[in-house]
Amino acid sequence: MTETVKLTYQGKTYEFPVLEGACGEKAVDISTLRNTTGLITLDPGFMSTGSCQSQITYLDGEKGILLYRGYPIEQVAEKSSFLETSYLLIYGELPTQEQLDEFKYHVTHHSMVHESIKNLYDGFPNNPHPMAVCSAVVGSLATFYQNELDVRNEREVEITIHRLMAKLPTIAAYSYKKSIGQPFQYPDNTLSYSANFLKMMFCVPCEPYEIDEDAAKVLDVLLILHADHEQNCSTSTVRLVGSSMCNLFASVSSAIYALWGPLHGGANQAVIEMLQIIHEDGRDVKKYVQKAKDHNDSFRLMGFGHRVYKNFDPRSRIIKKLAHKVLDKKPNREPLLEIALELEEIAINDAYFIEKKLYPNVDFYSGLIYKALNIPENMFPVMFAMGRLPGWIAQWKELQEDKQFKIGRPRQVYMGATNRDYVPMGKRQG
Ligand code: CMC
Repeated sequence: MTETVKLTYQGKTYEFPVLEGACGEKAVDISTLRNTTGLITLDPGFMSTGSCQSQITYLDGEKGILLYRGYPIEQVAEKSSFLETSYLLIYGELPTQEQLDEFKYHVTHHSMVHESIKNLYDGFPNNPHPMAVCSAVVGSLATFYQNELDVRNEREVEITIHRLMAKLPTIAAYSYKKSIGQPFQYPDNTLSYSANFLKMMFCVPCEPYEIDEDAAKVLDVLLILHADHEQNCSTSTVRLVGSSMCNLFASVSSAIYALWGPLHGGANQAVIEMLQIIHEDGRDVKKYVQKAKDHNDSFRLMGFGHRVYKNFDPRSRIIKKLAHKVLDKKPNREPLLEIALELEEIAINDAYFIEKKLYPNVDFYSGLIYKALNIPENMFPVMFAMGRLPGWIAQWKELQEDKQFKIGRPRQVYMGATNRDYVPMGKRQG
């Protein structure tokens, strides 16, 4: 028998069905609420609101569990590659060898961008933030493929998926090359996804370039760890934009902007900046923990806290190990790693952080690894975007294929002025 929730309002009782998710989480289905009662719900920040049913990613914030299509993140990070993980997220199952080879083939063979795209980069001012550039250039892809943007045409969606997966690393690396005045490096289709990206970032025409397979492997794992995280801010953006039946290029371009903010994907850059400030300020870690606890101070410990995780973010555990693996090999210990370790230790044993269940999140250590890979700080959010791309695609595709497809259109509770007469200019009071 379906469980229900009863709501009594103005003397009448209404019943709403309770939906049970695959892992036991429950939700009241209030989709008929307004029609039956005239009421709407109010939930700023979507603290208690589920926006969709999804089969892509499960996370249990209390237990610190993250599953991609049912597979634990720990296993995926250890055993899979980023492209295989992307296939899993987008198409729902782990690929056979043949399916993986075909996917790799398509993603690899769309990696070049139209030569005219290079001109776009010249239109930006000097040293623009690469997130702004990436979003703009990804959005512009819709102009290069404008006859293949039908969101209900399976073949056109498929080729758009391949183009996006293939071209984002090229677009991202070009944005870096532009910012430092070096020539763009064409993609190398003989390399893996991550190795190719690193080559496009760091190869210069006048010197030989040696592939660092270890660095490529580390990057691949980082991309896997960022690949999807259910209905976060940027993913919800992809879905909302996509719900107007807007094409995938435009939807992903919007998601990149949503990701940019320091409360979301920009946090990895903000973490390094914070560690740097603490370093330059005499390494007084306790002072900064104190500042973070002071409500009269706007400072927050970047890389700490999460809307859903009220326990260790499982990705942060994997990243911490990875950070040690990469940084412990370096001849001199990275001082920022020392500060991060000290900060984590103090914070996780501090009553304020324990009470508010604030733990290190995915961004806390990822920046240190990017730094060790010589990736500049303003590119950190771009790395997040590259990792999150298959998740955005999978969520956008799931929405388009949803039998209950509807344009996203929340309501509001209006609190402004009520009906009043227009005041002519001469009679207005300042
Ligand atoms: N440092 C100090 N206090 C914090 C922090 C922090 N990093 N995060 C939350 N709090 C406090 C906050 O002041 C509030 O206290 P009170 O209840 O006394 O007012 C309480 O904890 C709850 O915080 P909230 O801001 O209401 O929680 P939220 O779920 O709306 O925000 C968050 C989640 C991730 C935006 C927030 O924890 C934060 O700003 N963290 C720092 C930025 C960060 O690391 N972002 C990356 C998130 S993970 C990757 C991603 O999704 O992109």
